[in-house]
Amino acid sequence: MPNIVLVGAQWGDEGKGKIIDVLTERADWVVRFQGGSNAGHTVIVGERKYVLHLTPSGILRPNKRCVIGNGVVLDPMEMVSEIEALRQVGVECEGRLFLSSRAHLVLPHHKALDAGREERSSMSGRIGTTRRGIGPAYADKAARAGLRAHALASRRFSEDAREALRRGNEALMVAGLAPLDVETELARLAEAAAQLSAYVADTERLLNEAVARGESLLFEGAQGIMLDVDFGTYPYVTSSNPSAGGASVGTGVSPRHVDRVIGVLKAYTTRVGEGPFPTELRDAVGERLRTVGGEYGATTGRPRRCGWFDAVIARYSAMINGVDEWAVTKLDVLDGLETLRIATAYRLDGRLLDAPPADARDLARCEPVYEELPGWRESVRSVRRPQDLPRHMLAYLSRIEELTGVPVAIVSLGPGREHTLEWKAIEKI
Ligand code: IMP
Repeated sequence: MPNIVLVGAQWGDEGKGKIIDVLTERADWVVRFQGGSNAGHTVIVGERKYVLHLTPSGILRPNKRCVIGNGVVLDPMEMVSEIEALRQVGVECEGRLFLSSRAHLVLPHHKALDAGREERSSMSGRIGTTRRGIGPAYADKAARAGLRAHALASRRFSEDAREALRRGNEALMVAGLAPLDVETELARLAEAAAQLSAYVADTERLLNEAVARGESLLFEGAQGIMLDVDFGTYPYVTSSNPSAGGASVGTGVSPRHVDRVIGVLKAYTTRVGEGPFPTELRDAVGERLRTVGGEYGATTGRPRRCGWFDAVIARYSAMINGVDEWAVTKLDVLDGLETLRIATAYRLDGRLLDAPPADARDLARCEPVYEELPGWRESVRSVRRPQDLPRHMLAYLSRIEELTGVPVAIVSLGPGREHTLEWKAIEKI
């Protein structure tokens, strides 16, 4: 398999975990490059449902090696509990999971700052974060004040962590929040460090050596383009780069080694948290999408906002990510809807826009220009061959291709592995 970057092409929650799980079969390494435990991939294998926040879902396939790259912010406590939970279902991570020594750690005060700031903010200033400490951890990274994963394997861990916690308390107090008990937090961190030290590795070297041997890498994006700190609906974004470019800086693998980019699109749109969402439906159709699609956050359990498919966003995503092929998920959720709508452009102050404006306040004022397509009556869950898909679904997919200029290669019609069909052969995979 070539080296593939798989990215979310909307606001996250596109069902990437499931597509990754299917592609993993053909990859040697599965690599995360950004985000942290704000992500939540739900993978269903047989009767079992797994929700992973940090660990690449590739860990569920035997013999695959998984990397948490330098671009990720790593919560040591969460990492330990995932390793333990996986062990309990018979999945052993040691020797197969590698944590970049250069990844920054999410420390307890990052989470306290994140939650405290969200609680304090007025509704209009709130981002609606997952409260996993992501923003404060990346802020410390950029401010050159972070603690990195190499510390977990160092004899100086207690010293370094104590200093980081002390500085964290200063930040909490400046923010008017209660400081944490340094010794209690340090003890918990030291315990996590003892368990994680064996996993810390020089992952950029491991990955580049793998490339040199001709092994294949699957880069697993978390979140989605519209949550990208540069290209998303700033400031209602996460603090990393979920776009395809992030795969290189977030792992130390040169862009020259990335062969293909697969974008994952949900057949409609969802967003969790605050911020503009032009095609949002606040009516019975939106409610139906939420109920039928089980649209509740994998990490926070929050109900997701739901709306029609937005081709403006998809087109923008195709451009920024350089998407070669789409995987379109959750098509079954649209079963039985008489009419479907696709936003093809936005109208703002009498002008037509074919891409989202940079200012989130302008995006919030955009009116989508819709096109209507007929829905399909039948349930598609049992379809196993692309040629048996309903005619109107094929027309819907073709329209997505036309509006974005990118072919659809994979369609997903339900939660199980058996519901994922290769619609068109993905050439070089
Ligand atoms: P943070 O990443 O926790 O700082 O949250 C920032 C924004 O990104 C909020 O709107 C979150 O709801 C959103 N977000 C973060 N991670 C995910 C995800 O995995 N799926 C969907 N939304 C996410």
